[in-house]
Parts: sequence; structure tokens; C-alpha cells
Amino acid sequence: MADAPLVCTLSLLAFSCFLQAYGGSCPVLECWFVQEKMGRGGGFPAAMTQVKSLLHIMTDGQSQRTKSQQQDSSDVDSEIVYYINDPAGMLCHPSLYPHRGSVQKPQCEMNPIQPHPATIQWAAALTDSALSPIYLQADWFSVALQGLNRQLVLSSVMRAPTADKEPIVVLSVFSKTVLVEARHREPTLLDCGFWTNPSSPLSGSGFAVEWRFQFRGEGRTIVAYDGKNDRLAKGLEEEATLDFEGLHKKGNASLILQEAKVHHSGTYICTVYLPYLLAQVSINLEIVEPPSLSLHPSALPLTVPGQVVNIQCEASGFAPHSLEMSWEFRGADGKSMSLGSGSVTGQRQGWDGTYSQSSRLVLDTTKVDLGRGGEVICVAAHRGGMRQASVTLNVIGFSSPSIEDSMGMVGVALVLYGLIKFLSWTFTSSGSDEADSKEKKEK
Ligand SMILES: *[C@@H]1O[C@H](CO)[C@@H](O)[C@H](O)[C@H]1NC(C)=O
Repeated sequence: MADAPLVCTLSLLAFSCFLQAYGGSCPVLECWFVQEKMGRGGGFPAAMTQVKSLLHIMTDGQSQRTKSQQQDSSDVDSEIVYYINDPAGMLCHPSLYPHRGSVQKPQCEMNPIQPHPATIQWAAALTDSALSPIYLQADWFSVALQGLNRQLVLSSVMRAPTADKEPIVVLSVFSKTVLVEARHREPTLLDCGFWTNPSSPLSGSGFAVEWRFQFRGEGRTIVAYDGKNDRLAKGLEEEATLDFEGLHKKGNASLILQEAKVHHSGTYICTVYLPYLLAQVSINLEIVEPPSLSLHPSALPLTVPGQVVNIQCEASGFAPHSLEMSWEFRGADGKSMSLGSGSVTGQRQGWDGTYSQSSRLVLDTTKVDLGRGGEVICVAAHRGGMRQASVTLNVIGFSSPSIEDSMGMVGVALVLYGLIKFLSWTFTSSGSDEADSKEKKEK
């Protein structure tokens, strides 16, 4: 990407350089100019050609062409150079200009287009009145851009008098929410805005807005609004609305989903129509909801070594479906160990589109040294976040004993039992006076 300082070194003209960097222009945009190749006769299918082009963006309406044309044409002779006038300055968005040395680059593609009346019914009214054909007989281009870090998608339609390389932006459609991750059942905004050049005869003749939804090759129109007649041609189903006031006053065509659901995940295309023109941007929505965990049983009885403990962990309400379940043990001494993944069941999709899955842990206390016990933890790793649920396990007669140990323990227990019995007998017969006096003291 040739940014201003690079242009300076290339041009070696300090004054022009100063104008480039600080005048009403932005750094130069690098863009692929893609067009259909003219058939070379003989009925060859038309191929696409792709040429690198440089776009100089001006926002003040003044032509910079005379100043920079000669240097550019001598330095980058194989490239096409355009001097675009964009009064709204959308093409100057910082996300379209990477830092020097940055590996990431914004994407840009420019195509020649032909204006034509819209074929869809809700935009047909826009071309009711005949427009000056002279205005349409010009070179028309569309530019599609995607900024760094998905900060912006932008699509602009421009007009240049024939054979002139100074197009003027007539329509821009843009979104600052290129990739939206929403929680299940939360209100969600899919941003889309547009700008029309007030100096164009097409700008005062109304507009139309359409939102289309696409998922796995299938698509449908969610909202279609004829802004000229203020008529909603389609929608607003699925609790999706537009802010009609913002739409007319500020060109805010954002789609508002009252409650984003799993089946709303997909691609949304915001298209704005002017008479004979359209521009569109697409936005991806994904519902990302971490699971809720519950353990069965929620409390464990005292466990003796040798006993097998069954615990079930149920993860529910999550989307997308990819989930990693595992078990951990955190001992009373603070040490942790992995207990594996348990036996994981297949996933089920609920009526609301979210998924559930469970894992059963069979904990054989003869095989795993659990000491005195601790926390048995179910861990679910999901894109929406890590979730844990735990239950306390108390082991009596800790450290898994051998048969000899067990026999020894039984012996010790018997001796202890006899001792206690003996002591309690002595205590109750000889200590009743003591107990009485204690009671008095307490009162
Ligand atoms: C567009 O309208 C929506 C809904 O009223 C609002 O939340 C959003 O901030 C608006 N966007 C802009 C850029 O004004």
C-alpha cells in the first residue's frame, strides 16, 4: 500500500507531497480493477481480467489530477489511476489504510457497471419518471471494500464523464458490523447506512432498501421497503424492524432483531436502490451462546474406597454445536488431575435451535487415588466461554486400602468400639454428678 510518505519518495516533489498528505485528499488506495475481457472473436467465453489500480480519493471536490497525474503515470505505468471525488469521505475511513509494514491489507475491487432500472417490484417505482439519458450515459463503476479487522464494509457507485478518470461517488452503502456475534435471545443490531450525493439528479428521486437473508445456499427477503412511496413491500416478519425515521433522515438502514435466535445465524445483505443503481454490503451474524451445566446427582453421599461413583453432567442451551466436555478432580490438598472426558452422548438440538449434550463419569475409587476427597468438576469448553460445575466428594477411610489394611482397620475398629463402650459406661455411671454441675454452670 502506497501511503503518503511513500508517494513522497516516489514523486520527489515535496510540494505536491504536502498537498497529498494534508490537502482534501486521503492516502492512495490500491485496488483490483476487474472487468470482462472483450471476446477475441471465435466465440471464446469472456474471461475476467484483473489489473492493479490506484485510487486517489478527494473529499473537497477539487481536482488533484493535474498535480499528480504526470508523476504517477511515469512511476506506475502499467496501473490504472483514478481520481475519485467522495464528498462523504467514506473512502477515507482509517480501516482502509494499513500502517506501514502491516501484513494485513484491506480488500478492494473495482468494476465497470451499467446502470439499469431495477427489476424487483419494490424498487420499480424509482424509475417511473424518465431521467436524463445524458446523465446515465457515462462511465459507471462500483467499488467494494473491506477494511482491516472487519471494521468496515463499503460499496460505492461512481460516475465519470466518458473517458474521464475522475469519477464522483453517487451512492455509498456501508456497515460497521461486518461480523456480528450475538447471544441467544438478545436484541441485535445489524448496521447498514447509506449516503447519496445530493448533487446527483438521482439522489432526490427516492430510494428503496432491501434486507436479504442467506444461509447454506438458500435465501429469502426479510424486509423490502419502498422509500419513495413509504411502503413496506415485504416484512417485517421474525421480529425484525427498521428505524424508519433514521432511514429517511440519516440514511440509517440498520436491521434491528428484537431477539436473535439460533436460526437467525447466516448472511444478511443490505441493498440500497437508487433509480438505475444499487449498492450492497453483506454482514454475517452468528449466535454464540455458552452452555449451562447441571450435575446429577447434585450432592454425593459419603463414599468409601472401593465404591464406584456415577456422575452425569448435562450441558444445555449452547450454540454453535461444537463443545468439548471433560472432568477434573481437585483434591482437598489443592492438587488437580484430569479424569478424562467421561462417556459423552450425542448432541440433541432443541426446539429453539440450541444444542445439548451430556457426559457420564464413572469414577472407580479403587483405580483413582482421591485421598480424602475433593471437588469433582465438569468442564465444558465452548467458543462462547468456559463453563464449570462441581460437586463435593468425601471419601472416608482415605487412601485405597489393601485387604490386609482392611482387616487391620476392622481390628482397630473393634478395639475402638470396645474402648468407647467401656469409657461411656464408666462415664455415665461415675460422671452424672459432673454433668449436673455443668448444667448448672451454663444456666
Ligand atoms: C441506526 O439506528 C439504530 C436503531 O435506532 C441505532 O441503534 C443506531 O445507533 C443507528 N446508527 C447510526 C449510525 O446512527
